This record gives sequence, C-alpha cells and structure tokens, in this order.
Amino acid sequence: MRPVDRHETIDALRTALREARQAGQSVGVVPTMGYLHDGHLELVRRARAENDRVVVTIFVNPTQFGPNEDFSTYPRDMERDLALLDAAKVDAVFTPGVEAMYPQPLQTTISLKPLGDMLIGKVRPGHFSGVATVVAKLFNIVQPTRAYFGEKDFQQLTVIRRMVQDLNFPVEIVGVPTVREADGLAMSSRNVRLSPDDRRAARVLSAALAEGAAMIEAGEGDAARVVAQMTTTIAAEPGVALRSLDICDSRDLSVVERIDRPVVMLVTAEVGPVLLIDQREARPV
Ligand code: PAF
Repeated sequence: MRPVDRHETIDALRTALREARQAGQSVGVVPTMGYLHDGHLELVRRARAENDRVVVTIFVNPTQFGPNEDFSTYPRDMERDLALLDAAKVDAVFTPGVEAMYPQPLQTTISLKPLGDMLIGKVRPGHFSGVATVVAKLFNIVQPTRAYFGEKDFQQLTVIRRMVQDLNFPVEIVGVPTVREADGLAMSSRNVRLSPDDRRAARVLSAALAEGAAMIEAGEGDAARVVAQMTTTIAAEPGVALRSLDICDSRDLSVVERIDRPVVMLVTAEVGPVLLIDQREARPV
C-alpha cells in the first residue's frame, strides 16, 4: 500500500500542490483536528468525489481551546489517521506542528461579532475566533477550490461561511450532514472519552432533538414550548448536564420565538468529562 503523502511544513505542502494548481486542477480541503471517525471520512468521500486533488489537514489548534478546556487530553492517533486517509485515497495530508502554524504570537486574528460570541460562543469565549483564524490560515496555505465541514458543528459552519463572505475568500464552503452512530449519537472524536455509562446517557441528546423536530413538524410554533419539552427530556437523564439549548434561524443563528421559518436546534451538554454538541434542522409545516 502506498504511504499517504504527508507534509509537516507549509513550504512542503505548497510545493506538493504547485503542479496541480498550474494544471488548473481543483483542490478540496478537509480541515480536521485528527482522531478521525466516519464523520470525517464522509467529508473526505465528498471531497474525493468533487475535486481533482484532496488535502486533509490534521492540526489540534490550541487557540480554539479555553484555559480550562481539553486541549491536552484531546484524543490523538496520527498513525491510525494516516492509514485511514491512505485507504481513502487522499492526495496529501498536512500535519503541521504548533511551531509551523504559529511561529510568532499572532497580532492578527479574526473575530465575528455577534456570531462568534453567541450560543456556543457564550459557553466557550474566544473559541470561534480561534477557529476562524486557523481556518483562514489553512485557506491561505492550501488555497482550496472547496472546503468541507460537518453540519454537526453548525455554528462553526455558519461562522466559516460568514467569514468567507465578509473577507471574499475564493473558496466554496460545503456543509455535509452529521454522521451518527446506530443509536443516534452524533459522531465526534471526543466520544472516545465517554465511559460506557456516559455513552448510554449521551443518547438522550439526539432523542431530544428528534422529539423537538417532531413537535415542530406537527405544527408547534412556540419555540419556548419546544425548548421546555426537550429540556424535560434531557433533565430526566441524570448523566447529562445541559449547558445550552436554542432554536435558531438556520441562516443567521438568531434565536427565534415563533417557528415560522426553517430553524436549527442547537444543544450543548456535559456528559462525564466531555462537552458534547449536537444539532438538528426542522421546518415548520
Ligand atoms: O472542526 C474542527 O475539527 C476544527 O474546529 C477545525 C475546523 C479543523 C479548526 O481547527
């Protein structure tokens, strides 16, 4: 089996992509923090189907973690990731160290206001500025035609779409539906840190989202009533501590009171040592 083409420096990656760029080939990028699961591989499959070249980036970005968050315990397994990407026929994997991405303290950062400060941004101050800034750097390094992100991180996807519009990045952002385990749990690299009991308890999040969607699709137009029912369902599971639950306009994430347009329900909860997020879109009848 051919070992996947791995690059640890910006220069090496740019050199590897030069020929493709000169030949006018399209380049799809899948930015990740590694510890890949089937959700990531679905992004890779989409990128593979829609581009001449596919680049996956693996970088656990320290600037998007708060001081008391899980940067040091974030799961990592580079050898396994590279084997999966080799099997997925990726053309190049970019695996920079912190030194390569941040050779000097940044004086330039990107923050979106209010989009980056609301919802998860309230629970994780500074998180979306870290994400937007590193994704902007990755776009400048890879110069992709298209970039692929999971809808599970719905606010992240919205932040990136808005950054690309505001700053005129010449890249098409492709959102890919959430991939779930058989019992409904959204796939996440963090799931590996759930104990068997946590893992069972976490199912309540996708169940509550399904319940909320069923209410909306049956004609419930009062967001507070949907939130109240979902909160009751989640509260009945003692292993889960709800941190936020919002029903938002799918386009700009403004919180809605009346459900009279397509909405997205966004949930954040602590399950054991892990902060899990999940989402589901719903349309009123
Ligand atoms: O979704 C992620 O894994 C990260 O937030 C991203 C987009 C790779 C930026 O570090």
